[in-house]
Amino acid sequence: MPHLKGLILSGGRGTRLRPITHTSAKQLVPVANQPVLFYGIRSMVEAGITEIGIILNPETGGEIREVAGDGSQFGAQITYIDQVSPDGLAHAVLTAEPFLGDSSFVMYLGDNLLQGGISELVQQFEEHAPDAMILLQPVDDPTAYGVAELEDGRVARLVEKPKEPKSDLALVGVYLFTKRILEAAKAIEPSPRGELEITDAIQWQVDQGDRVEPHVVHGWWKDTGKLADMLEANRLILETIERRVDGDVDEHSQVEGRVIIEPGARIVRSVVRGPVVIGRDAVVEDSYVGPYSAIAADAVVERSEVEHSILLERAKLIGLEGRIESSLLGRDVIVRRGERTPRAYRFMVGDNSEIEIL
Ligand code: DAU
Repeated sequence: MPHLKGLILSGGRGTRLRPITHTSAKQLVPVANQPVLFYGIRSMVEAGITEIGIILNPETGGEIREVAGDGSQFGAQITYIDQVSPDGLAHAVLTAEPFLGDSSFVMYLGDNLLQGGISELVQQFEEHAPDAMILLQPVDDPTAYGVAELEDGRVARLVEKPKEPKSDLALVGVYLFTKRILEAAKAIEPSPRGELEITDAIQWQVDQGDRVEPHVVHGWWKDTGKLADMLEANRLILETIERRVDGDVDEHSQVEGRVIIEPGARIVRSVVRGPVVIGRDAVVEDSYVGPYSAIAADAVVERSEVEHSILLERAKLIGLEGRIESSLLGRDVIVRRGERTPRAYRFMVGDNSEIEIL
């Protein structure tokens, strides 16, 4: 078989992570201080796939191009493909046709994270040579996903976000395709939500008698499209880090467990309890940073407590009384205790923000 290409889908709108996605693509929201997208790119390179196409929405894609660059930082060659209107995952595949040519390819949804990478899957795909391979995992709420029904271990039916799911097997956002998927994508009609669904394209293949191989994944898998899933992905990745302290920790501070402190970061009179990552030039002063927190570069935590949260670049938490938990703070966000009297809540908050007070 000729070597596989990679296609990462990082277009779309990202409405469920607003307001973060008003200013940035959802595939760039960091998990353990790394953009979600990078995990997909790295797992492809690990599996020997270095020719990677990335689908972009031209409105939000500029920043993705900037941070992922030509791919050399990953040992890959990245080709960017503009999808002018996000009309569905199968539409994205059609948009990539000039890049794909006749190659088989791995398609990876840019907001998905799959533990254990894809090397084994790629190997199986090459050995078994099916017409397509899909990954499945049982989930609690199948209505939010594409759902597969299996009969005698074969794929019988695939339905996108069914109201009454017939199984709990969700389609994971990683697929292995031959060029046949292009034919399928051309044959189907838009779904009720107006998108060309990859799920329908694969169903078309099943109907044509193609061999569509199902593969149930046992490691963890996360679609990071929503806040709770994003925090969960952050927790799962932080579980895997090794301790490395390159920043400054003063003698009055305690840094416990698996903690990464990047160069230039300063920990002053504080307790940091891992697993935690603290980015370059961030400052933690007179504070507590608890398990499952990812503090990005140049962020500041001062006289505050934070746990199980993600702070993006330059976010600041200053002088809060209560502990912040299960929160996502965007870039340059400031949350601080007011010094003025009369004491009152004072907000300047963008569209679609959510604030929950003690
Ligand atoms: O996460 C797994 C699920 O992903 C599957 O179970 C579903 O069958 C599949 O349809 C997909 O569902 P979502 O509703 O979660 O897809 P979403 O719109 O979030 O898009 C997934 C990724 O693809 C995301 O990184 C954005 C990108 N995308 C999306 C569309 C609609 C594009 O690049 N172009 C598009 O036109």
